[in-house]
Amino acid sequence: MRVINVNEIKPGMILAERLVSPRGQLLAEAGTSITAQQLLHATYYGIEKVAVQDEEEAIDKYDDEAPDEFIGETQSWRILNSREFKEFKQAYNKCTDKLEAIITDFVENKVPIESEEIVEEIHRVFEKHSTGLGIMAMMLNIQELDASTFQHCVNVAIISRVCGGWIGITDEKELDVLTMCGLYHDIGKSLVPHTILTKPDKLTKEEYARMAEHPLLGYNLLMDAKLDRRIKLAALQHHERNDGSGYPYGLTKDFISPFSKIIGITDVYDAMTADRVYRAGICPFEVIAQFQREDKAKYDQHILQVFLENIAESYIGTGVLLSDDSRGIISMINSKALSCPLVKMDDGSFIDLRERSDLFIRACI
Ligand SMILES: [Fe+2]
Ligand SMILES: [Fe+2]
Repeated sequence: MRVINVNEIKPGMILAERLVSPRGQLLAEAGTSITAQQLLHATYYGIEKVAVQDEEEAIDKYDDEAPDEFIGETQSWRILNSREFKEFKQAYNKCTDKLEAIITDFVENKVPIESEEIVEEIHRVFEKHSTGLGIMAMMLNIQELDASTFQHCVNVAIISRVCGGWIGITDEKELDVLTMCGLYHDIGKSLVPHTILTKPDKLTKEEYARMAEHPLLGYNLLMDAKLDRRIKLAALQHHERNDGSGYPYGLTKDFISPFSKIIGITDVYDAMTADRVYRAGICPFEVIAQFQREDKAKYDQHILQVFLENIAESYIGTGVLLSDDSRGIISMINSKALSCPLVKMDDGSFIDLRERSDLFIRACI
């Protein structure tokens, strides 16, 4: 057995000990060969050393017949191992800690909300990553299995700010308000029992009803705070849908504030990616497809189209693994079918996924 740095581990090496996250979650069993996905998890959780069996053969075998699911050199891998990501993660962690302190002080001790510092911290995240696309790629990789409400709120704040830029909001003050809409949209959840918030199974009818109170609870909490009205409305309206199918009031599009509509989209996007990252590999095309399967009347189609189009376009030039195990590179996005781009295959031929309902993108590599 030897203990080596996680960045020296290659998929296929045999683990000498169980791989466990700092919180005690089992990532991989001893005696199994580590997969690229498990390696990503290990890196994410900040595990630095891993014990592997002294089996050079395993490595040689790996080099000869790299498995299809090999993602050791994927975009995610490169991002997770970049200095940029480490800096991003530090700034991001500062934001979540600060948000937790602000919300806890406000809810428990009635300390007025002071957003200046946290918004500045978010500015710092953006300063280093001038393009929204870079930030979105980082965001996909920062997702955790058991993200807290505070992490989720910081995610929604950052993604909303990016989205705001994409739909043409240029005024920094407006973008700050939108960012704060994201930061405080779920503040009402601090009054929902923790057992309900973290319940892994399906909620009972009663529990769901308690959960569904959070927009109203949030609005009541913020009502008298010295904050832009749109921030309070976002807490109240982020689960409302244009067609009246949302809650708590079933408002229709003319009665939902524009910023609440943006949060409605970015909130769902964050929940979908959090849910997918560890199940399907880090690839947003399935999330895009899922959005497009939803009823068009639910979301503001202009905001949604601009948002998803920008995300899809950021993947031009990225390698993909298709559902039949063939590989290619995304070469063009179909704006009418964002989840079905044109893919240039390894043999030089092109596949238009719009015309191939039998194929889909399994992973971005
Ligand atoms: Fe919510
Ligand atoms: Fe939310």
